[in-house]
Amino acid sequence: MSLPPSKKFLRALAGEHFDRPPVWLMRQAGRYLPEYRKTRASVSGFLELCYTPELAAEVTLQPIRRYGFDAAILFSDILVTPDALGQEVTFVEGEGPKLAPIRTGAEAAHLNPTWVRQRLEPVFETIDRLKTALPAETALIGFAGAPWTVACYMVEGGGSRDFFEVKKFAYQDPEGFQHIIDLLVEATIDYLTAQVEAGAEALQIFDTWAGVLPEDAFQAYVIEPTARIVAGVRKNCPSTPILGFPRGAGAAYPTYLAETKVDGVSLDVSVPLNWAADTLQRQTTVQGNLDPQKLLFGGDGLITSVDRILNAFAHGPHIFNLGHGIIKETPPEHVEQLVRQIRGL
Ligand code: CP3
Repeated sequence: MSLPPSKKFLRALAGEHFDRPPVWLMRQAGRYLPEYRKTRASVSGFLELCYTPELAAEVTLQPIRRYGFDAAILFSDILVTPDALGQEVTFVEGEGPKLAPIRTGAEAAHLNPTWVRQRLEPVFETIDRLKTALPAETALIGFAGAPWTVACYMVEGGGSRDFFEVKKFAYQDPEGFQHIIDLLVEATIDYLTAQVEAGAEALQIFDTWAGVLPEDAFQAYVIEPTARIVAGVRKNCPSTPILGFPRGAGAAYPTYLAETKVDGVSLDVSVPLNWAADTLQRQTTVQGNLDPQKLLFGGDGLITSVDRILNAFAHGPHIFNLGHGIIKETPPEHVEQLVRQIRGL
């Protein structure tokens, strides 16, 4: 029999509730921190930072040193998966990710899911370093992008406004597109399992673009692949909790929860709080929702929003977080204020 978890973040994921919930923030390591910008400037490319264990571990620890968050999230990116599969991925300063787009089944022929463990070895070494470097009370979260969101970048070749190319592929050549989704499911099960073997204590699956799909495609490309990943990882690592972030899922959040069988859901900024407390939190741990722009501007608006979230989720398992990643212009003092307010200091 395994012992109950001692870390507050893991206890909340196991269903416990606290007067003062544990807190961490999506993109808590990043450009809003001067110490991150300094480390970032010491390497030429963003992926080099992700693949240099000493530096990736250092930037993971930076927000923990400053704020003592209850969880650290491994410093990496969701686009290391296509990189490991063999697709060319680069990050262009000020423009975001650029990938050599894959728009047909034939263009995906060279992708190889069995490369993931070997090519992502530096990520596992980062986790190994963090195991001993983190404070005893801080949980370590590993993560991956969900197949749909990763496929969006793979097919579009970078960020997109209308998702024209990826929807065109999925709608016009469902078999070819399913092949890419299947590759990603296999690679992601392997990648997340290896993160747990290296020392990750919880996992989060980021589906940033879940909200752009109609119901049938949401079922096929968000729910089904995620359910397969959850089942596959759970078979290998039965005691590791998994959080899902189907951003923009709206009224499909309960279906996502029931059918993927994740252990907790991360809520985007648009989810109504009382609805989430009544439907989702009765069954699972909820996390998220604070608008990152409230944190950017601070002041009374921030205080009010934080209290609304704390009050709405006071009666069940809750992890405080943002509804999306922290904005790079956010003053670090606002993060300090946020953590103090959540902790009642
Ligand atoms: O602190 C953490 O949250 C851990 C590290 C992390 C990063 N990206 C670091 C990063 C995590 C968990 C991610 C997830 C990620 N990456 C998502 C899903 C969550 C979300 O925000 O929706 C997505 C869609 C990506 C893809 C990605 N990576 C984009 C679109 C960009 C460019 C936009 C930008 O902010 O520059 C990145 C780059 C990136 N990933 C940066 C960081 C700190 C900034 C790059 C830099 O420092 O040069």
